[in-house]
Amino acid sequence: MAAKSLGLFLVLTLLASALPEFSGVVQGYNRPPARKNLDVPSDDDPESNSPEQVHISLVGADKMRVAWMTKNPSPATVEYGTSPGAYSNSATGTTNIILLFIVQHWRIHARPSFSFKTPPAAFPLTFAVAGDLGQTEWTNETLQHISRSPYDLLLLPGDLSYADFNQHLWDSFGRLVQPLASQRPWMVTEGNHEIEKIPVMHPEPFTAYNARWRMPYEESGSDSNLYYSFNVAGVHVIMLGSYTDFDPNSPQYKWLQADLAKVDRGENSLGCGAYPCPMVQF
Ligand SMILES: *[C@@H]1O[C@H](CO)[C@@H](O)[C@H](O)[C@H]1NC(C)=O
Repeated sequence: MAAKSLGLFLVLTLLASALPEFSGVVQGYNRPPARKNLDVPSDDDPESNSPEQVHISLVGADKMRVAWMTKNPSPATVEYGTSPGAYSNSATGTTNIILLFIVQHWRIHARPSFSFKTPPAAFPLTFAVAGDLGQTEWTNETLQHISRSPYDLLLLPGDLSYADFNQHLWDSFGRLVQPLASQRPWMVTEGNHEIEKIPVMHPEPFTAYNARWRMPYEESGSDSNLYYSFNVAGVHVIMLGSYTDFDPNSPQYKWLQADLAKVDRGENSLGCGAYPCPMVQF
């Protein structure tokens, strides 16, 4: 997305020089130099099967999806409760966890415990929005900045890991974001770096993204993990895909029409949408 941001800056600069009255408002921006790439290692112990890359996302009105990776196959069981150490409930496999209280403490199959906070049922609600995360020291700084704010959920409209086919970097990204992504729901949609398609060799796009970052698309009547919607505290949030078909005959377009028609304007007084870049057809 760097090229697109640069384009925007050039347009603003041109406007500023053409229209003197703007020059007091438009400020130049000196892009700080790049910082080191990060590669967050896994725990070295090959015998350890500790969960890693833990992230959570909202599923329907009262459920949270918990996703993680382990080195070896192991039972997908999450034990959970509302205070640390008191795990009176458990869920296995793809079963969704039903949320009963605002703060849940949980652990994965007797492994280290995590805790998350569910979004409130009504306003005020705080979204954090960040895109083009990647995994450099700047990314870490952005994450630190987000973690200091009292946000309820994160919207990430595209470009997550910048793994660009290197699966190891998807893992590293999962470890880098775990401290935040295990505590608040992360609702993501895909950017161009998630496509990862190689003609003939690997023609199916978005395979790593779809496998690693599954979003609640079935729950919103969508047929694809690449576009979906959800409701939170009276807000209807639509996450669109700019890199999958969106013309008027496309499944995404038809789904969006149906989704908008279904919105209960009494219950959801606000709407918002996120997508990585404008959808323009030539
Ligand atoms: C991210 O920044 C924090 C705070 O400066 C630091 O403690 C942590 O080690 C950094 N993480 C990585 C992966 O560099």
